[in-house]
Parts: sequence; structure tokens; C-alpha cells
Amino acid sequence: MAASLWMCRLRPRGLKGPLKSIDNLCFKSQSKHSSSSVVVKSEIAQRKDQTDTTAERKSFYVLQEERLEQAERSVLINCPPKTNEKKFLKHLSSHGEINTCFFYESFGTYAVVEFSKKESIASLQDGTIIPSIQHEANVPFKSRLVSLKLNNPGDLSSVPSSTQCLRQSAIPINELVQRLSGADTIDQQLYTLTETYQLTEDNVRLRFLVCSLLKDIAAAYFPECTVKLFGSSVNGFGKLGCDLDMFLDLDGISGRNSKKTVGPFTLEYQMKRVSSERAATQKILSVIGECIDQFGPGCVGVQKILNARCPLVRFAHQPSGFQCDLTANNRIAIKSSELLYLYSSLDVRVRALVFTVRCWARAHTITSSIPGAWITNFSLTMMVIFFLQKRDPPIIPTLDQLKGLAGATDKHLIEGHDCTFVSNINRINTTENTETLEQLLKEFFEFYGNFSFSKMSINIRKGKEQSKPDVSPLHIQNPFEQPLNVSKNVNQTQLERFVSLARDSAWILQQDGMRHPLGAGAQPWGLAALLLPSASQTGGKGKKRRKREPASERIKSLLESLKSNKPNSVNGNGKRNFSTQSH
Ligand code: GTP
Ligand code: MG
Repeated sequence: MAASLWMCRLRPRGLKGPLKSIDNLCFKSQSKHSSSSVVVKSEIAQRKDQTDTTAERKSFYVLQEERLEQAERSVLINCPPKTNEKKFLKHLSSHGEINTCFFYESFGTYAVVEFSKKESIASLQDGTIIPSIQHEANVPFKSRLVSLKLNNPGDLSSVPSSTQCLRQSAIPINELVQRLSGADTIDQQLYTLTETYQLTEDNVRLRFLVCSLLKDIAAAYFPECTVKLFGSSVNGFGKLGCDLDMFLDLDGISGRNSKKTVGPFTLEYQMKRVSSERAATQKILSVIGECIDQFGPGCVGVQKILNARCPLVRFAHQPSGFQCDLTANNRIAIKSSELLYLYSSLDVRVRALVFTVRCWARAHTITSSIPGAWITNFSLTMMVIFFLQKRDPPIIPTLDQLKGLAGATDKHLIEGHDCTFVSNINRINTTENTETLEQLLKEFFEFYGNFSFSKMSINIRKGKEQSKPDVSPLHIQNPFEQPLNVSKNVNQTQLERFVSLARDSAWILQQDGMRHPLGAGAQPWGLAALLLPSASQTGGKGKKRRKREPASERIKSLLESLKSNKPNSVNGNGKRNFSTQSH
């Protein structure tokens, strides 16, 4: 749920150096407003640029620590509309130097203000008053979410705002299709899609700030806890508007990391005992969930989903517009986020292909925000990774190869599962593979259009398909908890829709007329054409049909448009020339 309408960035006095790109989490963007004017270099040059900067890349953990520390020096301020930023910043700088500040809108106008020093937060809170209200009462929980009140409204609101507006939510698909139609090559289309959808620097800052605000609530019970982000907010594949996956980490106090004691005695804490780790997690999340519900400013719609395989508390954080999932005792998910982050950082084509496949799947309701028998974004990402491991030469290494490169400090055994792999990206050789994104996208669709899903399982640890151990329609081995299938939820119908759509898309990309701009009318072509909703989904007015027709109206109309422009590669029988290449 990303309700933000626009986002503004300003450069306060005292701001040091240029505004950074979002560290290693995404591309360096030339223009955040970019449309067809996005500057995209050739894929090879761009890949080289990215590869060259890997030397500066930080490990996943260093990055997380830095971001969380930054967030702890930050406050979230609800401002009246048309607040004069200059006066606002002058007022706040009485508490200390301000590093960065940006404004966005989500159920009101908010500012994220990052101070240089943590002491500034204490000073600001010291000068913040408890609101006086008449018919209700305050729950006196002092957080870092505060409101700016105008002592003399007429004074500040008269000054025009000097802020620059930036979007915080993803643009609608029809706008994206238009934008992509203006590109020159399919490769450019994939990069444009990635740049358009990826999380921005500001959005990442806001995500870590919300995580840090949550930590303050949990710290009321567990002062030494940390709350970490995992999932697409940090794994390199986050799209604007994606949910906020958080993990309450109590390792520092749970005894897992306890130090060895010396001397004749050891003191240990007396603690309540419960039947299992799961029961402990449920109890903790139940209490923290209650606390978020009762005392958490801006947290609404709290649901405790404690009987799920991975117990969680779900809620909406209204000031940021984020849908949040808080879990505990979920360290393997952090490792899988780190692994995906590593893959996303290795080669620019990885992110571009994952963003594209996720967007394509969403446009055709192959994925959904509602839990069900559909393929999830996580499963799709694993499928792209597997496909890239299978290229010749491979574009990314297998998990076993990454394990082979691990150093002593990379060894991790979590709940009996081997989660060891290299954390230092600089130890991984770059690939010799120079395939274009256009080739890769087409081959991705062909690969999965022909994959033997009935017999084989996808395994990114080995980079090889293996015999399926059970009868689930889609089997993607969990890389760390190896007996588990990450796509166990997917039913046969959903798998068939995916395969059928992959075949249609491969066929569309084989058509000569689809590989180049169609001319002045800027009709959807290439990737833009692949994102058009299929006729089978839009046919019934108001009712979305989940089942796809074998030869959709969309293909027929595309064919017609091709016939009128360029020769196509449909054979004499009117059948598609679909490649049967097997891998
Ligand atoms: P979005 O759809 O953008 O939110 O992608 P996401 O990767 O954040 O997915 P989601 O929010 O559903 O899950 C968050 C994280 O939990 C994922 O990135 C994985 O690390 C982990 N995860 C999700 N689903 C599974 C699963 O079926 N099995 C395992 N082992 N981990 C999962
Ligand atoms: Mg998520």
C-alpha cells in the first residue's frame, strides 16, 4: 500500500557533499523523472561500469548497519501544507546540524530529517510538547514521529513552497507502456523499466526509518533488540510500493551469541520457559503486536498472524504508506535476502531481467498481492536466477560455487541448515557472457515455455534441474532449507497460465516487427507489447477471468498490426514458429 502522491527533495544548508545514489541497492539514476529521455548506455558499456564499481561495493551487513545507524539519527515530521522549508530547517537546526531532509506526501505532508548526530534527536524530543486535547486522552509514548504546528499560521503558509516534487509510488502500467514505446531497443526498454520501478534513495531511507521507529517500540520490552529489513526492500529487487518485511532480532539477548565465561562461577538469567522456539516467537510477537496496536503512532490495522508457518504481525504504517510484516526468529530469510542482494549486484542484467519478469507477471495477473495458488515474486526471482546460472557461459555462479568462495567469517549454520556463502562480492569473478537483454528475455520465455515442470525441480544451489521429489506442479528447492519447496502453494492451473504466457511472449519477441520501434505512432512494441493486458483478462466487463485462452485476442491483434507494418514469421499454416530449443 503506497499512498504517497509525490515526494520533494531539498538541499538544506549544512548538507555535506552531493546526494548519493541509493548505495548499492540500485542503479545510479540519471533522472528520477525520466521518461523517454532516460540516458541509457549500451548494455555492454553499462555492464562494464557496474562491474568496475564492484570494488567499492559494501557487504550486505555493512550496508544494513550504516542505513540503520542513519535512521536512528532521523525523525519523521508531519508538516502543515505549504510549510516554508527554509524556516522549518532553520528551526530544526537549533538541535544540531542536518545531513539530509526530504518531503513526501502520504495522508498529509511529511518530512524525513536526518541529523548528523544522535544527540540532536534527544534535544528535539526534549523540546517537543505533549499535545493538549479536550475530549480524548493521550497514550504518552514519545516516539520519533512528531507533528509541526504553526504558532502563527498566516506567517509561514504565505510563502510559496520551493520544493521539487518526486513520485514515491510506481507509475501505472499504461504510463510505463507508453514510456517503453519511446525507447530505441529492447535492451533500453528493460533498463528503463528497472530505473522507473526501482526504489529511490529517499524511499530506502524512509524504509529504514520506519524499521528504526519499530525498534523503539520493541525496545520497550527488549532494550537490546534490533529490527532488520529483509525481502525486496534490501535484496536489490524492490519496486516502489513493495511491502516492508521486518525481522525482530533478539539474538543479542536470546543466548545464541552468548560469550564463554571464565573463572569458577557463571551467572545466568532466570527466564520463563516455553515448549519450543516457535512458541517463544509467538508469545513475543503477540506482545509486540499488541504494543504496536495500542501505542504505535501511525500504525493501523494490526493483525497478529501467529499460526502461519512463519508467525508475523501485519499492519499498515500510515505516515509512510508502507504495508508492514514483522517477523521474529527468521534468520534464514535474512540470509536469502543477502544471497539475492549478492546476485543483484553481480551483473546489471540480473536486476533488469528480474524487474522485467516480475512486471510482466504482474501485468498478466500471474502474481498477485493476495496470497493464493499463484507464483510469488520470490519464486519468480529464483526462476530468473536459475535461468541465468544455466547460460553458456553462466552469467551468475551457483550457490555451491559461492559457498566455495566463502571465508572463515562467512560460515553460517542456522537451525542445522548450511547458509554459508561468500559475502565479499569482490571475490567473485565477472562473467564472460555478453548476451543482450533482448536475447536473454526471449530465451527466458523459451526456457520456461519448454521446461519439464512435470519431472524436474529447479535448484539454484547446484544450478541444475533435478528429479522432482514430490508431485507439486512447480518445485523450486529452497536454497537453504533444502527439503522445502518455495513454490509449494502453486497449483497446476497457475503453472499452466505461466507456461502458456511464456510461450506467447517468446513467440511475440520472435516477430521481426516486434523487435524495433513501430514508427511515428509509437505503438507498443517489444517489451511494451508484452506488458499489454491479454484479451482473456479484459474481455468480461468488470470480471477478470483467470484462465487464459490458448490463442489470445491480444496475439491476433498484434499479428494484424505486424502484417500491416512488416513481414512476420508466421508460417504458411498460420502457426507460430515457436522454438523448441531445450536446455
Ligand atoms: P515483494 O513481492 O516485492 O514483497 O517481494 P519479497 O521478496 O519481499 O517477497 P515477500 O515479501 O513475499 O517475502 C519476503 C522474503 O521472505 C523473501 O524475499 C524471501 O527471503 C522470504 N520468502 C518469501 N517467500 C518465501 C518462501 O516461500 N520460502 C522461503 N524460504 N522464503 C520465502
Ligand atoms: Mg516483501
